Amino acid sequence: MALAERVRYADFLSRCMSAEQAAQLVAPGATVGLSGFTGAGYPKALPQAIAARARAEHAAGRPYQIKVWTGASTAPEVDGALAEAGAMAQRLPFNSDPKARAQINAGSIDYIDMHLSHVAQQAWFGFLGKMDVAIVEVAGITADGLLIPSTAVGNNKTWLEIADKVILEVNTALPAQLEGMHDIYYGTALPPRRVPISLTHADNRIGEPYLKVDPAKVVAIVQTHSLDRDNRFSEPDATSQRIAAHIIDFLAHETRHGRLPRQMLPIQSGVGNVANAVLAGLQDSPFEKLLGFTEVLQDGMLALLKSGKMARASATAISLSRAAYADFVDNLDFYRERIILRPQEISNHPELVRRLGIIAMNAMIEVDIYGNVNSTHLMGSSMMNGIGGSGDFARNGYLSFFVTPSVAKDGAISCLVPMVSHVDHTEHDTQIIVTEQGLADLRGLSPRQRAQALIANCAHPDWRPLLQDYFDRARQQGAQHTPHLLGEALSWHQRYLDSGSMKPA
Ligand code: COA
Repeated sequence: MALAERVRYADFLSRCMSAEQAAQLVAPGATVGLSGFTGAGYPKALPQAIAARARAEHAAGRPYQIKVWTGASTAPEVDGALAEAGAMAQRLPFNSDPKARAQINAGSIDYIDMHLSHVAQQAWFGFLGKMDVAIVEVAGITADGLLIPSTAVGNNKTWLEIADKVILEVNTALPAQLEGMHDIYYGTALPPRRVPISLTHADNRIGEPYLKVDPAKVVAIVQTHSLDRDNRFSEPDATSQRIAAHIIDFLAHETRHGRLPRQMLPIQSGVGNVANAVLAGLQDSPFEKLLGFTEVLQDGMLALLKSGKMARASATAISLSRAAYADFVDNLDFYRERIILRPQEISNHPELVRRLGIIAMNAMIEVDIYGNVNSTHLMGSSMMNGIGGSGDFARNGYLSFFVTPSVAKDGAISCLVPMVSHVDHTEHDTQIIVTEQGLADLRGLSPRQRAQALIANCAHPDWRPLLQDYFDRARQQGAQHTPHLLGEALSWHQRYLDSGSMKPA
């Protein structure tokens, strides 16, 4: 498709250029706001051109690095390419790219791992510094200069507002019928002039279908024609299916006891195979007319929409496998009626998560016997991905599940430990912990009761006696509100680092 068909704002046509030319507009040291959220809606060409420029500058003996802010994770063409070129000095608020992760853990990229709902407002407050350039993928530009968003909204609204300069990547591979699917809320203000966000139902539309930009700030338009990465899932394995079954049984149990409306509350589902297995499990559940209020819409939720099990879904990004994307494009008129894509400051907003009564489901790395959850770090120091939206939803949801297999690394690691090696969600923010072994409902329990429920229900049988022994011995000495043996609490992790297993020799 010709670029002119997508760029209907005549003034912009003279600003069209190649990605290589546009990369020259991104100065060394610049803070760059990129579009992109969980492998969707990221710029496809310019980050690679910036990476190539960085390599050329480095070869000529000149420094070239930028600070990269996004909505969430991107793709190899962005984080991978920039990391490989040594072009990233700082990264926020989320990364899942292995090359960038290696540099974060080597200490050569400063990584700022943030709650995803915090990013836009902290940028506006001026807490993060100034943004020089925003590079935002769009599906098109209207004759009035409004931007048709792509498969992710993320922080694009904020980047377009706060950046000094804007570069738009117009992706002609995106279906034109995306127009109308988005709901961009322009009512946020800075304290003390904030007003309530008037969204009272997960599928309310409260904004406009377009992003706005000051045309004077647009310095370049770059054409791309390329799809988002293939956000593929493996088929749910037995462990994921057992975790999903525990959650679905529990939801039915809560409904029977009148603690959950029969129609269910809107669902947030984290990323990954377990989350997808839970959504697959809901397909055969007794629940009807479900609503999604989540940050990423993945294959499992698209399938629920398709079957009619889910009535509508609100998210900030659509992150699909190739097969699901083909179905999405083929049935766009159907899905446009049922999917609402919002800025992440709205999709993850604590005010809305609490008002709507969201059921939050997120995966974790490890949990301790008192219910503190680590979502981000391996063995205390090594960053995996980041906290993402898990905290936005877990702390404010009506119900909050954290899930993990009970063991990792072929059983050498217990994911239930005496003390987590890093805390993302404190015991005050967590409610229901699920492994394939079972489910521990921690609501209304004291720390000692929590420990007993977690050890009995969630521990792997190989590890249960060791956890029980730790807890029993901690109960013999010291203060008894949250009994611990401090000299031993992290010894399991140290043993793994020393010997490759948490198990005593
Ligand atoms: N200790 C050390 N390593 C562990 C571990 C533990 N307790 N548990 C898992 N691991 C390792 C796994 O072995 C695996 O290692 P590998 O990459 O070398 O194979 C790695 O950590 C990832 O584990 P896996 O079970 O494949 O994870 P996942 O794909 O189910 O993802 C999270 C789990 C926690 C990493 C992921 O959900 C995440 O990043 N969450 C935080 C953000 C979030 O919640 N976002 C959703 C909000 S909407």
